[in-house]
Amino acid sequence: MADIVVRRIDINDKIYQQVYDLREAILRKPIGLSLKDENLSADAFNTIFIAEHQGMVVGCVMLYPIADEEKIKLRQMAVYDEWQGKGIGKQLVDAAEHYAKEMGYSAIILHARTVAEGFYKNLGYYTTSSEFTEVGIPHVVMEKDIF
Ligand SMILES: CC(C)(COP(=O)(O)OP(=O)(O)OC[C@H]1O[C@@H](n2cnc3c(N)ncnc32)[C@H](O)[C@@H]1OP(=O)(O)O)[C@@H](O)C(=O)NCCC(=O)NCCS
Repeated sequence: MADIVVRRIDINDKIYQQVYDLREAILRKPIGLSLKDENLSADAFNTIFIAEHQGMVVGCVMLYPIADEEKIKLRQMAVYDEWQGKGIGKQLVDAAEHYAKEMGYSAIILHARTVAEGFYKNLGYYTTSSEFTEVGIPHVVMEKDIF
């Protein structure tokens, strides 16, 4: 998509505040929660991918190493409402998958909100669990082999 740049940052990048604001606005506020009430110390170990339009972060996703050295966890996938449906989410997941593959991982695992299950299914992820509740809303575990 024109004028959208997808790139990788870490938590020390000055643009990270915009990622925090996006996560708060899209992933927490609509369900009555706030990142302010969470322990975000593990965020420092995440690799963050942003979609940027003219210096403004419009989408993000994060990769978080878990105990399994074959798999990495994709989390905090969010695109601002007015930017949804334009292929930005797909571009972010593609970038994360490409990087994970480069890092030697063979699969990506994630906890999908059931409302977003179709989005991930469309990108080749398959559901590996029954529904469970996380941050007060229904989720399923999904996975994709990337080797
Ligand atoms: C889910 C989300 C990240 C998708 O991002 P997006 O930029 O709107 O998605 P894209 O435009 O890249 O969509 C890619 C494809 O998935 C489809 N898709 C997007 N959202 C979908 C959904 N919720 N259910 C089913 N299919 C979906 C699109 O139609 C598109 O299909 P196409 O390639 O056949 O045209 C975004 O809607 C969002 O931020 N939602 C609110 C937060 C959220 O639920 N995050 C996920 C937490 S697990």
